[in-house]
Amino acid sequence: CIDIAKLPKETGCFTYDPGFTATAACKSAITYIDGDAGVLLYRGYPIEQLANQSSFLEVAYLLMNGELPNKTQFDAFDHEVAHHTMMHEAFKNFLGGFRHDAHPMAMMVGMVGSMASFYHNTLDLEDPEQRRLAAIRLIAKVPTIAAACHRYSIGWPVRFPRNNLEYVDRFLHMMFEVPSEPLELPPVAAKALDLLFILHADHEQNASTSTVRLVGSTGANPYACVAAGVAALWGPAHGGANEAVLKMLAEIGDVKNVQSAVDKAKDKESGFRLMGFGHRVYKNFDPRAKIIREMCHQVLNELGVNDPLLDVAMKLEEAALKDDYFVQRKLYPNVDFYSGIIYKALKIPTEMFTVMFAIARTAGWVAHWLEQQEDPEAKIGRPRQIYTGYDKREYVGVDKR
Ligand code: ACO
Repeated sequence: CIDIAKLPKETGCFTYDPGFTATAACKSAITYIDGDAGVLLYRGYPIEQLANQSSFLEVAYLLMNGELPNKTQFDAFDHEVAHHTMMHEAFKNFLGGFRHDAHPMAMMVGMVGSMASFYHNTLDLEDPEQRRLAAIRLIAKVPTIAAACHRYSIGWPVRFPRNNLEYVDRFLHMMFEVPSEPLELPPVAAKALDLLFILHADHEQNASTSTVRLVGSTGANPYACVAAGVAALWGPAHGGANEAVLKMLAEIGDVKNVQSAVDKAKDKESGFRLMGFGHRVYKNFDPRAKIIREMCHQVLNELGVNDPLLDVAMKLEEAALKDDYFVQRKLYPNVDFYSGIIYKALKIPTEMFTVMFAIARTAGWVAHWLEQQEDPEAKIGRPRQIYTGYDKREYVGVDKR
């Protein structure tokens, strides 16, 4: 590795690396990925072990604090998060300003950003305790905001968080509960959602986390930083892929159309890509995709759902993995390939899929923001460019142009 920052300034040396394929913008002790071996560790713990044995809230604690909590620490964290789940009543004024058919991610960008207008007076970025409190508020309130966005879009009144429930259960109640009927949730629903949240919680310097860090590098308010992360996540090349996968599977519609979809994705002229395939870092199976595929079968079996889209997905995976185009480019299913089928079985609307991702990734965003604020080497993010415009030229008045 060459540390460009340490080269004498007069060398005028900088790298041209569009997409930052080989540029480390920071040092981080949070998440490790070996893309060739398909390894993902949070704070040193393999994702498979966390997926099997941990919970999302415990993982959020781990990402933020660097160590797994003991029972007392976890109970205190859980209690503190539960204590901060409520939204100020005035948030509803923001919500009411959105068009009824706005995409929930559009609402999320605005609503999470609006937190900066509520908590600025109590936030001193120099104070570690206040920074920690901002992180807790985000982990606690983003699910409340997400459920409120969903209910607003279907014309339902916002539901209070039930703080006697666990994190994921509480969220599902805020999404789906109606006053007259107790919500009967099959245990597999909370288990599957908790698993998806664990798998999506962090992924080192992905586009949205890098965005949070770039905005954070300017000293901006943390809620504004995370709102920027939500915006970056929305795109179909990143978190929006889960929504795009389900749309693609529905368009393919039947296993008999799978081969023509694979052929279309190989044709560059078509502009069509297999959504949920490929990854900037994994050039092997995304370890999260393996875990999700297993959970997908479990959820459909336990809920008794027979979703033909699962057959299309499995056939698509099989066809792509046999195809030279995908093999040579090391394009494997990524975390988003099967997650949409699980969300659909849990009756989460398609346009909410990326919002689910945002709830989970909030844990990673705040962990990175906290790490950055404490990093003595952190500087304002300020990439350079290769200038391709005009040389110096003279201004010409409008009458002579
Ligand atoms: N379908 C068909 N071809 C693909 C696909 C795909 N899904 N992904 C990459 N390729 C091809 C490219 O056309 C390119 O081919 P070439 O070498 O002949 O020009 C080659 O594979 C490399 O692709 P790049 O776009 O250069 O790879 P990059 O690392 O920049 O992109 C990305 C990674 C954005 C994930 C890409 O694979 C993609 O668009 N996938 C579909 C969207 C998706 O699933 N996104 C979710 C990512 S995971 C996440 O954010 C949680």
